Amino acid sequence: MSDWQDDVCGVSEEPPPDPAAGWELLARLRELAVGQGAPAAVIEAVQVATADRAMVAALGACHRADRARFDGLILALGSVRGLKATAAVLARTAKEEGERQEKAERSTRARRAAAPASSKLVTSLEPCLRGYSLSTDLVAPPGYDIDDCGVRKRVVNEDTGEETIIPVAARPFVTVARCVNIQDHTVVSLLAWLKVGGGWGQHTVPRVTVSDARALVTLANLDAPVHSNNASDCVAYIAAFEATNAAVLPEALVSPIMGWCGTDTDLSFLWGRNQVRADGIHSSGSVDELPPSSWRAGQIHLLPSDPGLRSAAAGFHAAGSWEGWVDCVREVTPYPRVMLAIFAAMVPPLMRFLPSLSNFVLDFSGVTSQGKTTALRAAASVWGSADERGDGILHTWDNTHVFAERIAALCNYLPLFLDDTKRARKREDVGRAVYNHASGVGRGRGSLTSVQRTTRTHSVLLSTGEEAITSFTNDGGTRARCICLWGSPLGGADTATVEVVRRLNAGIMAHYGHLGPTLVQKLASDVASRDDVRRVYETEMEAWTKLANGNGVASRAAQYVAALAVAEQLFYAITGLPRPTTPAVNEAWEAVLKGSVEADRATDALRQVISWATGQQARFHGRLEAEGTDSCTAPAAGWLGAWARGENWRYLAVLPTELRAFFERQKFDADAVLRTWADREWLQRDGRHLGRKVTIGERSDRCFAMSREACDLVSENDDA
Ligand SMILES: Nc1ncnc2c1ncn2[C@@H]1O[C@H](COP(=O)(O)OP(=O)(O)OP(=O)(O)O)[C@@H](O)[C@H]1O
Ligand SMILES: [Mg+2]
Repeated sequence: MSDWQDDVCGVSEEPPPDPAAGWELLARLRELAVGQGAPAAVIEAVQVATADRAMVAALGACHRADRARFDGLILALGSVRGLKATAAVLARTAKEEGERQEKAERSTRARRAAAPASSKLVTSLEPCLRGYSLSTDLVAPPGYDIDDCGVRKRVVNEDTGEETIIPVAARPFVTVARCVNIQDHTVVSLLAWLKVGGGWGQHTVPRVTVSDARALVTLANLDAPVHSNNASDCVAYIAAFEATNAAVLPEALVSPIMGWCGTDTDLSFLWGRNQVRADGIHSSGSVDELPPSSWRAGQIHLLPSDPGLRSAAAGFHAAGSWEGWVDCVREVTPYPRVMLAIFAAMVPPLMRFLPSLSNFVLDFSGVTSQGKTTALRAAASVWGSADERGDGILHTWDNTHVFAERIAALCNYLPLFLDDTKRARKREDVGRAVYNHASGVGRGRGSLTSVQRTTRTHSVLLSTGEEAITSFTNDGGTRARCICLWGSPLGGADTATVEVVRRLNAGIMAHYGHLGPTLVQKLASDVASRDDVRRVYETEMEAWTKLANGNGVASRAAQYVAALAVAEQLFYAITGLPRPTTPAVNEAWEAVLKGSVEADRATDALRQVISWATGQQARFHGRLEAEGTDSCTAPAAGWLGAWARGENWRYLAVLPTELRAFFERQKFDADAVLRTWADREWLQRDGRHLGRKVTIGERSDRCFAMSREACDLVSENDDA
């Protein structure tokens, strides 16, 4: 075997021995045996032959090649007087040598079958690669041949030494890289295969799929050479391939969600297909489109968990020019509500540096054609295409809640734009999405595989609709996280405004995706700017909290207004546009104050209870008598509670079952409301009970008794 074969296969082999010399010796010995001088000459010749390695090998070859002929010659020799023992020695030597040769050949064959056919996988695939670039370090796993005709396995029968070729796949396919999820450290394989049409396809495949024959068959959809008959062989082949090439397989870092990644000293931001780093914006295709040879070191690729999300991420890109965008926004700086939308879109990336800031919602509501969608588009243009019809980042509420959840998960540290609540399939979907968004928790976040994980996301939801978004939920906590701006975002409807709206819409359709990346690059490259963000936020927080003056809901919203104020400062610093005299955040604060009255669910609940009781006075002990009926006879529909007549009543008492049923009908959280009432000392109580004993008809029952003071308080505020 030549040196190169030794090098390539790592197997050295002895040449097969030739039996000719052995036959010649045996023939000569027989002649000697019958001639003169025998058996001494024969004994001597046998001694010489058995000491000669080459002759022993030839005899072994004779023993293996034609056993009958060999035995015949030995028999003839042994039958000569005095040569029986010599013949036996000769036979034993040949037999042992024959067996040794067989064993050696078997092991050589097995080693050859197990050795890679060629270390040059690229060479063996050359005829079909046609432009597809494959790492030159990759080798075929031991026992496999991979070429343009597919993948084959060589199997050697241990006993016979026979080699069988088993076809594994009709077309070549290989693992070209591993992708490691930076969020949860799960791994997916990047497989490439020759498609029926001729080109190479490349797809990310979860490890659970490449490890399971049944799951692997699903790749048939993508034109992979896998079917139910070869799937288990393919699973074994991929495992062998990946094990053999473990050290040389390129590794890509991927993230299923956008937003900040890395540590504070090496921060970068995934924005669509781009990675914004301190030194600039690096664009790249997705891992399953570009061959590993074109990946850049340190690059993190976005790899959304499902293909539907890829187009959602694709909308995050830039078009037109920075100057073009600044020019069209310049015109709307006098419109605080449009500006608030833009500032809100700048807040999510700041959340990394403001851990106490929670997710919130900025909602535009009002009658049709007031520029609500236009304001949303202006905000969306901070990050990407605002075209809600194409692959834009502005979505409508008519998506399924699952899709909305997944989009929300994808857009970490990025805003979420959902237009027109009227288009939602179910009212509950809106309430649920707002609740999930506000709590920052959703399903299936951060996972490349079907394994579901729950993580927190950081975002601001910008929404529009004819009704305020708070009308879709009764959860007080969620409502407190919404800033609802009612009415036209662009002021009055006149021809000048219509023209502004028209120009703004046209401008942001052509120029977008500049401010957002500029902002994150500034934060990634300049540590001092992060400290500035924290400092300004703290100052603003303090100022707005003071203004809230103890109002619970407003104090909570102070953080959102403070964050908007930080964004406002950053906006004017980055764009260089002149600042209007009145900050736009004042508008947000006004909305907060208005909303805080409404967001107070406990007050709202008491107000509704009073109004309901007023409509049902005849079912209250105390009020029924007033109509001249015997106080002890229950009304036909039964008692609701007790409520003294006249001006001097001290409490309004309602039977617990009736009050809870009322809360249930009105979608109030009964326990939360009652607890808040108790905290505010709005309930008259017996000791530790939330209720007190009240006489109703002939009985005394424990009721929830709302004090006169509390009832007067909520009624007064209502009038205001
Ligand atoms: N402030 C405004 N004054 C006058 N016309 C306006 C104003 N805002 C919007 N429009 C007109 O309404 C059209 C639609 O604007 P836009 O889609 O932003 O409104 P919208 O409030 O989202 O309406 P809808 O509730 O129907 O979704 C604009 O093209 C413009 O002609
Ligand atoms: Mg609209």
